[in-house]
Amino acid sequence: MGRRALPKLNPNLEYSDYYGEIESLSDDWDITSIFDSTHPLEVELGSGKGLFLTTASGLYPDRNFVGVEIRKKYANYCAAKLSEAGRHNAFMFQGDGLLFFHKYLKDSSVDDVHVYFPDPWWKSKHRKRRVLNEPFMHDVIRVLKDGGRFHFWTDVQEYFQSTLALLEEFPSLSGPLDVEAKPAEHDMDYRTHYERRTRRYDRPVYRSLYTLVR
Ligand SMILES: C[S@@+](CC[C@H](N)C(=O)[O-])C[C@H]1O[C@@H](n2cnc3c(N)ncnc32)[C@H](O)[C@@H]1O
Repeated sequence: MGRRALPKLNPNLEYSDYYGEIESLSDDWDITSIFDSTHPLEVELGSGKGLFLTTASGLYPDRNFVGVEIRKKYANYCAAKLSEAGRHNAFMFQGDGLLFFHKYLKDSSVDDVHVYFPDPWWKSKHRKRRVLNEPFMHDVIRVLKDGGRFHFWTDVQEYFQSTLALLEEFPSLSGPLDVEAKPAEHDMDYRTHYERRTRRYDRPVYRSLYTLVR
């Protein structure tokens, strides 16, 4: 499945309060510089067009949401969507999510980590580019609070199974718990755009959820 062009944004929409670039963060950057509350924190790596962030930040106004997306035009699009929706509890970073987790998230600071439909990198010589790799999982465990959750969904069965096998090496992650598909009540009632596309093509979605028990 290829990617469709992004819809045009309203050129008058101001969204600089929702957008940052990881490359510009100082070494001592802290999450309190973007949120003025200490509400629970959820972080999504690879936000794409930002459906998860926009929906979840509206449903849970007492939780803070950060998305990280490496592609600039998608990161800008997500930030614009958050601004359009008037969210006060969500922020978008452009840059490498692996670096963001490794360098900028503090130990035991995150309640939920979300990775939905990560790029599969089909060719075996490119597999090392997959974001769900061992160093990243060490960072996920480090940044999650005790009882925090790791959510991983994909439409690629092989990626799903190899990630579940990798996670067996991390005994502090308890899972996988099955996550049931929820019937969509409206056209955008999906976790992410990729989930929407996959289900509309009647293809399976593989979902997992883990809880950190230190
Ligand atoms: C297949 S898309 C899925 C997008 C979205 N999660 C969804 O389900 O609709 C994967 C996204 O991850 C982004 N991505 C890949 N590597 C990344 C990284 N290291 N840091 C942040 N984003 C990344 C890609 O640019 C792409 O937008």
